[in-house]
Amino acid sequence: MTVLSVQSIADLIPADMDALALKISMARGLGEIMGAVRRTARRLVGADGITFVLREDGMCHYADEDAITPLWKGQRFPLENCISGWSMLHREVAVIEDIYADARIPHAAYRPTFVRSLVMVPVREDDPVGAIGAYWAHQHRPSPDSVDILRRIANSAAVGMTNVALINSLAAAKEEALRAKDAVILAMASLAETRDSETGNHIRRTQHYVRALARAAQTHPAFALQLSDAVIDLIYKSAPLHDIGKVGIPDSILLKPGRLDQQEFAIMKTHAELGRRAIADAQQHLGVSSTFLDLAQEIAHTHHEKWDGSGYPNGLKGSDIPLSGRLMAIADVYDALVSERIYKPAFPHDEAVAIIAAEKGRHFDPDLTDIFLTIADTFRTIYNRFGDGPLQLQTA
Ligand SMILES: [Fe+2]
Ligand SMILES: [Fe+2]
Repeated sequence: MTVLSVQSIADLIPADMDALALKISMARGLGEIMGAVRRTARRLVGADGITFVLREDGMCHYADEDAITPLWKGQRFPLENCISGWSMLHREVAVIEDIYADARIPHAAYRPTFVRSLVMVPVREDDPVGAIGAYWAHQHRPSPDSVDILRRIANSAAVGMTNVALINSLAAAKEEALRAKDAVILAMASLAETRDSETGNHIRRTQHYVRALARAAQTHPAFALQLSDAVIDLIYKSAPLHDIGKVGIPDSILLKPGRLDQQEFAIMKTHAELGRRAIADAQQHLGVSSTFLDLAQEIAHTHHEKWDGSGYPNGLKGSDIPLSGRLMAIADVYDALVSERIYKPAFPHDEAVAIIAAEKGRHFDPDLTDIFLTIADTFRTIYNRFGDGPLQLQTA
């Protein structure tokens, strides 16, 4: 029995080390790594305390600890003034049996603590990013095995910290790419907007209307399958490009202070196809196929189609019109109705709602019209919230 128990202790350590290494390799943040290290290290080497020290701009940050009484958690000391700094600067393990007999130790900092003996190991020995300290309350000569265990733990922590740094930089790069995408949308949408006589926040308001309408439609059996949260988010983000094709319409038509004649209107109508083509070209040049750009294309192309087939550019009918285009049609028309234009006054909200209701099944998808009627107040709130002014794109 005695032999068995000796064997099991010897076997336990590698098993614990493997479990710790696995835990550290799966960690998604520094806190998880430090938490796993301090608990396991203290148990495996039988220490009265463990600290996890991070190297931060010439300072030793005592970031985490697990000890019989508090040590220095949260405090920062210059690298030159503490033993963890010594260990990092010299890339060496410090083994100190009696801290009061060692000149490297700032004794004043240790007097209020229980510490009498310690081992300090650098994390990532070739270029230390931190250190792990183990402390004992009574004079104690740490065994070579304990030092070896602490070194192995420090190596695992180094790998974990590198992983976390990589994960963070990937997340930052992804975030930057997303922001760049949003900036490009804003730039493209602003370009269309600056040439348009429509008011500055039309783009922003339609983006919000379309999201409100899509969210309300999410619970309707006819639309539930098509409108996941992710799709709604993409519709919201791509909606600002709905009139991008207007960039290709001559100023004489786009800025005409009055109603367009038949020929001018025919040219104006080409903005739907021009918009589709511009986004398709961008997609082809970039060599990317993204749901976002597909949706942007779809919306630009079909937001003037009408349920009864009398819209443009293709006279699509009913559910042949993509849902994104049907949603955008209601958003776009509502905003045009309640906004003042050179050729027309702004209609009051109730009148705009009545006009849209009358177009149910003619201009607009009948189910979406009904849904619009249930949330028309939200449209009014959005209109009031985003008055006209400099264009600001909200991307979340
Ligand atoms: Fe349009
Ligand atoms: Fe529009």
